[in-house]
Amino acid sequence: MSLESFFNPASVAIVGASRHPGKVGHEILVNITGGGYAGKVYPINPSMDSIEGLKCYPDIASIGQVPELVLIIVPADSVADVMHQCANLGVKSVVIITAGFKEVGEAGGKLEQEIVRIAHGAGIRIVGPNCLGVIDTGHKLNASFAGDLPRAGAIGYVSQSGALLAAILDMANAGGIGFSTLVSIGNKADVDELDIMQYLAECKETKVIAGYLESISDGNQFVREAEIISHKKPILLMKSGGTGAGARAASSHTGSLAGSEAAYECVFERAGIVRCDSIKTQFDFAQAFATQPLPKGDKVVVITNAGGPGIMAADAIEGNGLTFAKLSDETIRQLAAVLPAAANVNNPVDVLGDALAERYQKALDIVAADDSVSAVLVLLTPQAMTEVVATAEVVVKQSQKKLGKPLFACFLGAEKVRPGVEILQQGQIPQYDSPESAVAAIKAMCDYHRWRHRPKRVVKLYPVNRRKVENIVERHLRLGMREIGEVESKEIIEAYGFVTPKGSIATTAEQAANIARQLGFPVVLKIWSPDIIHKSDVGGVRVGLKSAQEVMDAFDLMMFRVPRKMPEADILGVLVQEMCTEGKEVILGMHRDPHFGPMMMFGMGGIMVEVLKDVSFYLAPLTADEAKQMLVNTRTYKMLTGVRGQAGVDIDAIAEALQRLSQLVTEFPQIQEMDINPFMVGPEGTTPIAVDARISVEKVGQKK
Ligand code: COA
Repeated sequence: MSLESFFNPASVAIVGASRHPGKVGHEILVNITGGGYAGKVYPINPSMDSIEGLKCYPDIASIGQVPELVLIIVPADSVADVMHQCANLGVKSVVIITAGFKEVGEAGGKLEQEIVRIAHGAGIRIVGPNCLGVIDTGHKLNASFAGDLPRAGAIGYVSQSGALLAAILDMANAGGIGFSTLVSIGNKADVDELDIMQYLAECKETKVIAGYLESISDGNQFVREAEIISHKKPILLMKSGGTGAGARAASSHTGSLAGSEAAYECVFERAGIVRCDSIKTQFDFAQAFATQPLPKGDKVVVITNAGGPGIMAADAIEGNGLTFAKLSDETIRQLAAVLPAAANVNNPVDVLGDALAERYQKALDIVAADDSVSAVLVLLTPQAMTEVVATAEVVVKQSQKKLGKPLFACFLGAEKVRPGVEILQQGQIPQYDSPESAVAAIKAMCDYHRWRHRPKRVVKLYPVNRRKVENIVERHLRLGMREIGEVESKEIIEAYGFVTPKGSIATTAEQAANIARQLGFPVVLKIWSPDIIHKSDVGGVRVGLKSAQEVMDAFDLMMFRVPRKMPEADILGVLVQEMCTEGKEVILGMHRDPHFGPMMMFGMGGIMVEVLKDVSFYLAPLTADEAKQMLVNTRTYKMLTGVRGQAGVDIDAIAEALQRLSQLVTEFPQIQEMDINPFMVGPEGTTPIAVDARISVEKVGQKK
């Protein structure tokens, strides 16, 4: 059902409209009438004949027609009764402002379930409960107690925190920022963040979808749908709080490193969502997206009347990975012809401290026409002769030429620049209080543009031996075993195309020595027990054993020490394995997030993974580009490509391994966590070796 009647209702009934100023039911009534809403308003209050000059009704039925939107502002224990009235009359859209539901505990939770049950039975959509209401500036509807109706604009806002929405409105009003729609979703008993985002995606007044979220109702659906929405309009989100997933005890390295933060990073990246870390950043970005065309490249030019801020902007451009535009010879020639001899005609173009508006205009005209420029940033500091207002007008006029390139302004100062800032705001030019904030907004737009134009996602499928994996996984689940030991973990990854070191299990020291002779020295010994996950912690790993005698001694010592450290462990023998010494160690892994599914991990391997924490995550299934990007996103990446004369490793082989692993965990949802650590990777053309692997499984749908 469309949510249109929440934002453009022909009539609104306010159940719990109050005669007392200061009460929520009064404030919402006057916000609706005072905001200029043109539809019918019906206050409902059994003890009043009229409120604020409007005829008052004892209940909804007495109105004589069905209101398109009902606001419920009565105490929590009366809400179900009002919902029954709505159901009987055929009301379809209800906003429940009342608090005292799920958020207060079990009894409130039951009340909430009851109202949802009534709503579902009658086909009613609910916004709330425990919310601030809804606002639609296009229809002058302020059905909230968030504050005055904001000015109209292109930002649609959804907030899970009502109180924050009130603060956002206050800040936006002060900064002259306009909205199309604002929705406080409260406990989201029915309508949730995705419903609102989908509505805003189709709303023609909304150019940018912004929001504040604490949780996401359905992770998988959110990723899928948000990706579709991001192709239509940018989504700018502030996200706080965790999913709780990270708190789950994790037995793998990947699991311990993959918190809910990493999951949200992955989701935002996949779905093209622009993440904002503060209200200010969100407004900074929203202004840019709402008013300017997307930059087609990342080449930024700066025009300034002050050297210092020009350098600050240049630093920020480079620091953010953007390109400092190299102006064409023709542009430089034209600039030199119109600017004073002392001016800098290269980027940053310094029009000098005595520049009047006309000089800015000439410089702007010339650089904006240069094909090697994708975005223009105009800096101004208020010097004695600076024409703040006239320069702001020049910038606004330039943007009206619609050259398809975004324009950004940074008028630095306070009192002296204020009249210019107002002109910029009215003229739909994003204005920033520092060069760094302006550049951050440009960067956000460039990233979003790149995301929208990324190649279509194609996930490669490798030929694998699924049956083999099925057998191992099912047997473990049948026996109630969560952890798959090293030997069978390796059989699983071998079935998906990984190469593992050769080795066999020995139950006596002599047997161990014989296996070692066959493999060739040096070898590695590892304790073999389904109960021991972190073998090195209990003295269960010995590397670099160079002779039969060393192997036998190590075997005896291991079989003596480990059972004393872990008396309850069932020890089945010792794995004698060839030792891989060539190549660099990396770690590949997966952690299944309960909300968003399998998150792949790549990072520096061996014992360093937990110390350096230089890892990157991405949601499976992975495309080749995404797998490669996971490597690029780590600090280790440079080391992998070869530094200081050291040969690089086979990057494509790691990317392929990540894709194979991504296929494995996508095809086997029973796999909850896994590590391949270390994964030894050598120079291009060599075969990487999965030295150690561990996998944990769970019956699907029976997660603890
Ligand atoms: N039908 C119609 N009117 C009713 C009613 C009913 N079933 N029950 C009560 N009313 C009337 C009352 O007579 C009263 O009118 P009056 O002030 O003119 O006498 C009005 O509705 C309000 O009822 P009252 O019992 O005085 O409640 P209240 O105003 O103190 O509180 C809420 C009601 C909904 C505001 C309160 O329960 C609440 O939830 N507050 C928190 C809201 C909130 O913070 N939401 C989340 C924001 S993020």
